[in-house]
This record gives sequence, C-alpha cells and structure tokens, in this order.
Amino acid sequence: MTRDPVLVAYGSTRGGTAEIAEWIGESLRAAHIPADVRAAREVRSLDGFGAVVLGGALYTGRWHRDARRFARRFSRQLRERPVWVFASGPLDASTDDGSDGNAFGAKSVHKYAARLGALDTALFGGRLERTARGFPASAMAKKSAGDFRDRSRIEAWAKEISARVGQ
Ligand SMILES: Cc1cc2nc3c(=O)[nH]c(=O)nc-3n(C[C@H](O)[C@H](O)[C@H](O)COP(=O)(O)O)c2cc1C
Repeated sequence: MTRDPVLVAYGSTRGGTAEIAEWIGESLRAAHIPADVRAAREVRSLDGFGAVVLGGALYTGRWHRDARRFARRFSRQLRERPVWVFASGPLDASTDDGSDGNAFGAKSVHKYAARLGALDTALFGGRLERTARGFPASAMAKKSAGDFRDRSRIEAWAKEISARVGQ
C-alpha cells in the first residue's frame, strides 16, 4: 500500500469538472487512499505525490488549457508516476457506454494521455447550467443546458484507481 497521497488536479472553467475531481478525491479517501484535490494551475510541485489523476473540461475541441499546461509543465515527473486522465464535455449521455461518444476534443485528451503514459483515460459527460453567462456559453445553454455527469460511473472509475494505487 502506497503511503504517498494521490494528487487529483483539474482544469475547469464553470466548476463542473472541479466537482468531478472532488468526487474522485472522496472515492479515493473512502478507499483509505489519501488524496489532495487541486486546481491544476495552482500546483507548484509534484513532490510527495505517489500518483496523479489529471482531468479537464473540453472547450472548443480541446482539453482545458490548465490541464494541457499542467501536462507540459510536469511531463517528466508525470512519466515517473502512475497517471490517470479524464475529461468532461459532451452535453449528452453519449460517453456513458465508456466510448468517446460525441466528445469533441477527445483526440486532444488521448494525445496528452499517450505522452504521459496514462494507465487509463475516461471521457465523462459534462454540465452546463441554464444560467451560464458569457458568449457563447449562454447561447449554448438555451439549447443544451443540463447535467450529464454520471456520478456512479465516475466513482466506479475512481474505484479502479484505488485498487491499483492500493496494491
Ligand atoms: C463555450 C463552450 C464550449 C464547449 N466546447 C465543448 C467541446 O468542444 N467539446 C465538448 O465535449 N464539450 C464542450 N463544451 C461543454 C463543456 O465541456 C461542459 O459544459 C463541461 O462540463 C464544462 O466543464 P466546467 O464546468 O468544468 O468548465 C463546451 C461548453 C461551452 C460553454
């Protein structure tokens, strides 16, 4: 059993992906794996972390900028640790079967995951609140608002991570 905590780092603009990261952190802790959940842009060092889960929302066909920057900034340290990657995006249930579904930007996520040697990559549905502000989010929200994050699927994925980290 590793004693080093797992870092769950995220890139999120409207909070939906940040909450997924919190759910993953809670699941890890429930499995007695210490976990720190932090915004990717605020992480200064990976020292002391035994493994990393890196997630980001999808925006205009790309993984969140904070997740991409994190992957580049810590590429060497990440390759030395077990890494898991996730993204949250499509405003529908198309990824619920474990596929990339309608996730526009999945390609960008897989590219980074391959570079980091990620052990697994998961695409989850996203959330857009009806009251989202700013352009083009507010216009999108009129047509596509909803919460498509499947918490039980996310927790099942976190459980697989716990099993690997806890070995
Ligand atoms: C302006 C805008 C662009 C988006 N672009 C994409 C996209 O390219 N691919 C996708 O799957 N989802 C896209 N989405 C949906 C978001 O990924 C989804 O709302 C996600 O949950 C947002 O995460 P956040 O709350 O952590 O920022 C977009 C949403 C907005 C508002």
